[in-house]
Amino acid sequence: MPTRFKLNTGAEIPAIGFGTWQDEQAQEDAVTEALKAGYRHIDTARVYLTEKAVGKAIKKSGIPRHELFVTTKLWNHQHHPDDVPAALQQSLDDLAMDYVDLYLVHWPVAWKRGEDLFPKKDNNFVLEEIDFVDTYKAMEKLLDTGKVKAIGVSNFSHAEMERLLENTSVVPAVHQMECHPWLQQRSFAAWHRQRGIHITHYSPLGNQNQLYQAKGAVGKLIEEPTLAEIGKQYDKSAPQVTLAWGVTQGHSVLPKSKTPSRIQSNLKGDFRLSPRDMEKIQHLDRKLRFNDSSGDFGRDFFTDLDGKQL
Ligand SMILES: NC(=O)c1ccc[n+]([C@@H]2O[C@H](COP(=O)([O-])OP(=O)(O)OC[C@H]3O[C@@H](n4cnc5c(N)ncnc54)[C@H](OP(=O)(O)O)[C@@H]3O)[C@@H](O)[C@H]2O)c1
Repeated sequence: MPTRFKLNTGAEIPAIGFGTWQDEQAQEDAVTEALKAGYRHIDTARVYLTEKAVGKAIKKSGIPRHELFVTTKLWNHQHHPDDVPAALQQSLDDLAMDYVDLYLVHWPVAWKRGEDLFPKKDNNFVLEEIDFVDTYKAMEKLLDTGKVKAIGVSNFSHAEMERLLENTSVVPAVHQMECHPWLQQRSFAAWHRQRGIHITHYSPLGNQNQLYQAKGAVGKLIEEPTLAEIGKQYDKSAPQVTLAWGVTQGHSVLPKSKTPSRIQSNLKGDFRLSPRDMEKIQHLDRKLRFNDSSGDFGRDFFTDLDGKQL
C-alpha cells in the first residue's frame, strides 16, 4: 500500500507526490503517465502555468476526484486579501475542479496587484505592502467555502512561521520547502513536527533540474556514493533512496519528471530506511540551497535558515 500521512485537518496526503514545475508542454503527458503509474498526489501552482495540463490529464484518467490529492499555490501578485478568492477560482477553473486539497501561499512576498504575473519596473519586481498574515487570513476564509480542504505555506523562514502562528487561527496543514540530503534542515523539521505541520520536500532530488545546475559546479546530489551504497541493500537507486529519506521522516516528497521510466521509478522511493542508514545520510548535509530568490524577488528569504549562504 502506498504510504499516506495524516494532516492536522484529518485528511490524508500521499507520501509521494508528482511535481509539475517546468516543461509545461510536456506536463499533460507526464501527469497522465504519473496517474497511470499510481501517483495520487499532484503538485502544481498558478505560476507554473501547468494547472490546465494537470486538469486535462486528471479528467482523461477517469480517476474519481476523491482519490486524488491536488495542491496549487497562490502567486505573489494576488496577495491582496480581496484578490485571494478570485485567484483561487482562476486556479480551479484551469484545473476544472470544484476544490483543491491544499492551497499554499507560494512565497512570503507580495507584488503589484493586477494581471501581470511578473510585474516589473526598471527590471525590478514591483512590491506591494501587503502583510502575508493578511493574505493567510483571506486563505483561512476559503476553508468555509469548501473550495480548499486545507491551507498552508511555502518558502517561509522560521521567524515568518512564528509570526504566522501568533497572528492567525488556522495552523498551516503543510509547509512546502526545499529539502534533500544536501539541505536537511533537521531542527526546522523538528519544529514543524512539534506543531503538527506536515512538510513536503520540493526539489527532493537536490540540484537535478536544469535551472539549479546553472548555479555552479558542486556535483550532483544523486551521485553521492553513500546513497548508491545504501540503495544496494534495498535494491533501490540513489534517487529512490533520496526520496525514501524524506518518507522515512514522515514527510511527503514531490519529484518531477517528464520521463516515463523516471516517473515510474520515483514512485518506488516509497519505502523506509533503517535508523542506521538515516544516520549515514545525516553526514551528507552540505546546507546547499538551490532555490533562493532573495534579491531577485525584491526581498530576502530564509534569513534564519540553513543554506542561506549559496
Ligand atoms: N514551492 C516552491 O517554491 C517550489 C519550488 C521548486 C519546486 N517545487 C515543486 O517541487 C517539484 C519538484 O522540484 P524540482 O522540479 O525542482 O526538482 P526535482 O524533482 O528534485 O528534480 C527534477 C529534475 O530531475 C530529473 N529527474 C527526475 N527523476 C529523476 C531520476 N530518477 N533520476 C535522474 N533525474 C531525475 C528531471 O528530469 P526529467 O523531467 O527530464 O526526467 C528534472 O530535471 C516541482 O516540480 C514543483 O512541483 C516547488
